[in-house]
Amino acid sequence: MKLSTQKTLEQLKSVLKNPEATGPDPVYFVFMDVSEDKWANITIIQNGKIGDEYPKTFGHYHSNPTPETYHLLAGSGILQLAKKHMDGDTWVPEMVDAVYLVKVKPGEEIVITEEYAHSWSNVGEMPTISYDDWRSGHLTGFTLLFSRRKWRTKGYP
Ligand SMILES: [Fe+2]
Repeated sequence: MKLSTQKTLEQLKSVLKNPEATGPDPVYFVFMDVSEDKWANITIIQNGKIGDEYPKTFGHYHSNPTPETYHLLAGSGILQLAKKHMDGDTWVPEMVDAVYLVKVKPGEEIVITEEYAHSWSNVGEMPTISYDDWRSGHLTGFTLLFSRRKWRTKGYP
């Protein structure tokens, strides 16, 4: 196992509600090569607040149709999912067809299919720790989707 990503507040600025806000920094860590069987990565998101926003991952779409499974080990997470908007065969990254916020408890697993962008928020009082089985690359061309212009959720500002 080795550290593959350590995402700082500076690196998350483009997707923060308030890019100048302070909070836990680095915001999250991803470790890769966790195992050679199912689980590939572990993501640890710090708890706390970045301004009035919960710490979160940057978010991404996937670059191929393989589904990804997340398993939340510890903490209290909300998975934000946004469904791709397609114009015929052309992806329109500025638009989405639907947004879902899924509250996930430790021990639960979620399978994400290719049409959904995804980002985790830690809404609890301790770090969230999750496994995933993704080994196949990411697309990052959807920054607007998780930007400060995005949604708010009742009870989870
Ligand atoms: Fe992913």
